[in-house]
Order: sequence, then structure tokens, then C-alpha cells
Amino acid sequence: MRILAIETSCDETAVALIDAKGDFGSTFSYTVLGNSLLSQAKQHAEYGGVFPNVAKREHQRALVPVLGEVFRQAGLLDAPADMQESTIVEVEHILEREPELFTHMSQFLRSTGKPPVDCIAVTHGPGLEPALWVGINFAKALALAWNLPLVAVNHMEGHIAMSALGSQRDDLATENVSCEFPLLSLLISGGHTELVLSREWMHYEMLGATRDDAVGEAFDKVARLMGLPYPGGPEISRLASEAREQALPHTIVLPRPMIDAPNYDFSFAGLKTAVRRTVEEHQPLSDAMRHDIAREFEDAAADVLISKTLRAIDEYDVRTVVVGGGVSANTHIRERLHETIQAHGTEMALLIPPPIFATDNALMIALAAYFHATKGEFQDPAQLVARGNLSLA
Ligand code: KG4
Ligand code: ZN
Repeated sequence: MRILAIETSCDETAVALIDAKGDFGSTFSYTVLGNSLLSQAKQHAEYGGVFPNVAKREHQRALVPVLGEVFRQAGLLDAPADMQESTIVEVEHILEREPELFTHMSQFLRSTGKPPVDCIAVTHGPGLEPALWVGINFAKALALAWNLPLVAVNHMEGHIAMSALGSQRDDLATENVSCEFPLLSLLISGGHTELVLSREWMHYEMLGATRDDAVGEAFDKVARLMGLPYPGGPEISRLASEAREQALPHTIVLPRPMIDAPNYDFSFAGLKTAVRRTVEEHQPLSDAMRHDIAREFEDAAADVLISKTLRAIDEYDVRTVVVGGGVSANTHIRERLHETIQAHGTEMALLIPPPIFATDNALMIALAAYFHATKGEFQDPAQLVARGNLSLA
């Protein structure tokens, strides 16, 4: 089954095309035919975070070029086009709130034939609603133009699918991928920090979540407090690694919020406030102090995430741990997770995707969509709406 997937929930405009077959847990395999992405991080950097209306505008500009790149990779650009003008009129109706996208899309549909694709998948939440809507309307327009069914995907399910299915071989071309259950997902991104238990594919029990800031959001806010650019995660990570490699002085101590609380919830707002106080006390902030704060903050975040994950592993006899979301691109957190789980002594699989597939992409949406498409779970376009707060369980 060939699935064309679209992801616009935040600040990445992403499209992917996969060919997947088989059953999960036994014979599943897939090939990536095309995968492309355009990040808006630069456009948002001046706001210090993602600005919804800028995201909406940039997605409108980027979607057709990114789709075109996927078609180029998949060798689909040469199919003769025979789009009816009446269909273009219907597409215009769907994209009435995205006129710039319609301009690009009508040119694309007039010049490119219908691809050999079986369904269109799109993220419908969680995320920024103005951003989600651009992808959703684009998906509806493609589904109408090419007469294809639609699959709506939860972005967080995409991260889980990517980590579970896409972490096992570096070339991503997987065969007979399977996972043992219970499976624990540690989801750490700019909008989420969650521990989710699955006893079978596509079933989720929420064990705990952040009560305030997500861990990625804390990375971004702490970076901002120290005058570092958005997105803050990679910047903090770089400073923290330098501090460890060069054995720079280490004196700052930050709290590990809720580390001993007997539950699976997290809180990162207090940690951020502690950083703010430290920054205020050490003005003007020296380079050495910036390195020290970055290192201690990264350690504090890693300690809390790992301690709660270990507790859930023991309580639920977990066989597979998957880690997903942008923060799982963090080298230190990846290493600590590997060390801790190895030292734990169980025969447990730890699956973390390569860093480029830890952050948002459309391949993850295509993989999750295959779950639903094989079960015949297609979406009525009239009912498909952006759901900013969509949750897994
Ligand atoms: O999953 P993602 O790409 O988008 C959301 O769905 O939120 O995650 C983005 C988050 C940002 O907060 C970013 O700072 C963080 O992931 N991030 C990192 C690293 N790379 C990205 N955080 C820590 N270390 C990194 N290397
Ligand atoms: Zn994400």
C-alpha cells in the first residue's frame, strides 16, 4: 500500500511517500519512496518560538515545493497530467482560506498526473490549529483531485510509530519489524512530555504527563533566558557537551522536580524558574556560567525523565521502550537512556530513531497511517478538522 503523508502541526512542512505491506508484529515491511521537509525554524527564531500565523503562511508556501521534491525522489513527475478544470474549481473551494497554497497547487495539478498512491494521510492534531489546518486542507484537496481515501493521524502516534518501526535499521528500509509488548513510549517534544503504555499495537494508556511545560519547551525557554537562539534544545545540548568534554567548572545545582513523586507525572516550570533565578544572580552571564547552566539543566531533565521511565519499566514489566519527539535527538539523553537500560539488566529493547527522524517529519505520519489504513479506518473529509489538543488516550 502506497501512502502519501503530510505533516504541518508545528514549524516543519513535511511530506513523505512510503510503500508498506504486511502485518504489524510479524511481516511488516516498508520502503521510503520519497521524504522531504522544510523547516521554518529561521522564520520563527526572531519571535523566540513558533508564531502560529507565520507557520500558517510558511506552510502554504512550502507544501507544493516539498510535495514536488517527494515526487521527484519517487520518479513520479513525468506522469501525463489530465486534470479537469471542474476539479480545479472544487480544489479552489477547499482552499478558500489558503489562497497562496491554491495558486501553487493548481499549477501542480495542471502539470503533474495522478500518482500511483493508495491513500493520503495527514496529521489532524495535536499541534497549532492554524498550522494543522493548512495540511488538512491540502490533504483534502489532494484526496479530492486524485479521488483517494484519507487517513487522519495523531502526531504523537506518529512519533511512537517512527520510533518503534523506524529505529531498527539505519537505512530505514525495514523488513519483518516487530516489537514485544508491553511497550512503553517516552514522548518528549516541544509540546509534550508523556509516558504511554501499549499492551498491543495502537492501544494507549496514559501513565503520566507534564503538569506544566513540556521538556522541549523548557529547553527552548532556558535557552532564551541565556540569550541563545530558537530552537534552544540543540544549543543547550552543544554547550552542555562542551562543558563535559572540556571538564569546565561545575558548581550550579538545579532541582529535579517531582523525581520522587509516586506517579508518572512531570513538571518543568520550576526547573525553568530556577534557571531564571540563577541567570539573574549571575549578571552579566559569563560564557563559563552559560556552559555550567546548560550542563546542569540537561542533567536535571535527563535524571527526571530516566527515573520515571525506569519506574514504569519495573511496574509494568515492559519489554520494549520507544523514545520519540524532538528532545530524543539529544545526544546526552540518548546515551543516558542506553546506559541505564543496559545496566538495568533486562532483555529489553530500547528504540530511538536516528536524530533526523526524532524531530517532526512526515515519514512518521505515513507509518502511523498504515496502522489505520490496514484496518479500514478512513476519514470522511467533511468530518476532518484540526484538533489542537488531540490526545492519545
Ligand atoms: O517533536 P518536535 O520536532 O516538535 C514538536 O512536536 O514539538 O520537537 C521539537 C522540540 C523543541 O523544543 C526543540 O528544542 C527540541 O525538540 N529539540 C531538542 C534537541 N533537538 C530538538 N532538545 C534537546 N536536545 C536536542 N538536541
Ligand atoms: Zn513532534
